[in-house]
Amino acid sequence: MATTATPSTPDGAPVPDSVPKQTKQTVDPYNVTGEVGADGVVKAIDYNKLVDEFGTKKIDDELLARFERVTGKKPHHFLRRGIVFSHRDFETILDRYERGEPFFLYTGRGPSSDSVHVGHTIPFEFTKWLQDTFDVPLIIMLTDDEKYLFSDKKTIEEVQGYCASNVKDIIAIGFDPAKTFIFSDFDYVGGAFYRNIVRLSKHITLNQARAIFGFNESTNIGRIHFGSIQGATSWASSFPHIFGEDEKQTVGIPALIPCAIDQDPYFRMTRDVSARLKFQGKPYAKPALIHSLFLPALQGPGTKMSASIDESAIFMRDTPNQIKNKINKYAFSGGKVSVEEHRQFGGDTSVDVAYQYLRFFLEDDDELEKIRIAYENGEMLTGELKAICIRELQKYVAGFQERRAKVDDDTVKLFMERRPLKWGGNPKAPVV
Ligand code: TRP
Repeated sequence: MATTATPSTPDGAPVPDSVPKQTKQTVDPYNVTGEVGADGVVKAIDYNKLVDEFGTKKIDDELLARFERVTGKKPHHFLRRGIVFSHRDFETILDRYERGEPFFLYTGRGPSSDSVHVGHTIPFEFTKWLQDTFDVPLIIMLTDDEKYLFSDKKTIEEVQGYCASNVKDIIAIGFDPAKTFIFSDFDYVGGAFYRNIVRLSKHITLNQARAIFGFNESTNIGRIHFGSIQGATSWASSFPHIFGEDEKQTVGIPALIPCAIDQDPYFRMTRDVSARLKFQGKPYAKPALIHSLFLPALQGPGTKMSASIDESAIFMRDTPNQIKNKINKYAFSGGKVSVEEHRQFGGDTSVDVAYQYLRFFLEDDDELEKIRIAYENGEMLTGELKAICIRELQKYVAGFQERRAKVDDDTVKLFMERRPLKWGGNPKAPVV
C-alpha cells in the first residue's frame, strides 16, 4: 500500500533538498517516513523491519498472558491489537512488579506547537492506563529546550508558551496528581538532574552520537548534547524529591518508558551507558521500554500526523464538524472505486485510514471485528465506515475538551511542584 506524501520532520517542515527523493525508510527522533520508491511514492512504515534494525523484541501472546497473570488486568486494546507492539526488558519490569520492587513510568512530549492532535494523545492515554494498572510514580518531561534546538525558527519564548498550554493538554488526559510529576527542562535542569545529565554526557562520544542520530559537522552542539538530557530522565536519582536522596538506593530503580518507536535511539544510548556505570559499586538500572506505532496521517500509513499540516490530523481543538469534514474529505479509503465493485470485492481494511483509526479508538473487540468483516466482504461501504469513525473520534475529542476546560493554573502548579509523590505499587506483592 502506498500514498503520496512529502517526507517531513517532526516539526512538519519539509526535509531539506539534500535528501534524495528516493530513500530508505527512516525512523529516528527527527524523521519518520516510510520507504520512498523510485516513483516518489511513500510506502507504509515497516514496523517489523524496525524491530530487527533496532534490536527490540516484539510483544507476543506469551508476554501478554504473563502481563495478565501478574497484574490481574486484561491487556489494553493497544496491546491486544499490536499498536503497542515492541519492548525492551518489559519482562524485568513485570518481575519487579511481581516481587513488589520499585520502578517508575517516564514519558514526555516536545512542545513544538499549540496544536495537539490525536496522534500526540495516544502514548499518553496508554501511559495513563499503565499508571492506573501498576500504581507507580509517573514522570512527564517537556522538552522545551529540544524544540528550540531542533527548530530553525522558534524562539525560546515561543516554545515556553507551547509548553504552558501542552501541560494542560497532558493533564486533561486524566493523570493522578498524587503520583505524577510534570517538568519542563528549562525549569528543572539543575541539582541531581544536572549531575546525571553530565554523567551521561561524559560517556557518549561524538562518534556515538553521530552514529545514533545521524548528526554531522554542521549540527549545532546543543542538539548533539540534548540526548543526555532526555536520557538522564530515565534515572530515578534525577528526582530526589520523589525517590529520596540516597543515590546508592535510587540508581537501582528502573524506568519503564512508554513511547513511540522513534524515541528508541535516545534510550538505546542511555541503556548502553547505564550498563557501564556504577554508583559506589552499585550498577545503574537500565530503562525498560514499551513502544507504540504511529497514528497514521489522514492521507495514509506512510507518515504520521503532523501538527503543521492541518489536513493530515485531527486536532484536540477541532469541532465535531471539522472532524466530520476532515474524515470525509481526506481519510484515505481502502474501498473500491464504484459501489458495484465494492459490493463484489470488498474494501481493504489494512490501508483504510478510517478503519485504522477505529483500531485505536474503538475499544469493543466484537464491534470492531464485525466492522472489519462487513467492510471486507463489501456489505459496508466507505461512507458508512467513515461515519462510525467520525462518531468515535467526535466522542473522544469531546471528552477531552470537557476535561481540558477544567484544567486551570492551580492544577498546573500542583502537577509541576517538586514534591513527594504517593503510590501503592502491587497490593499482592509479598511483604519483605
Ligand atoms: N523527544 C520527545 C518529543 O519530541 C519528548 C520526550 C522526552 C519523550 N522524553 C520522552 C517522549 C520519553 C517519550 C518518552 O516528543
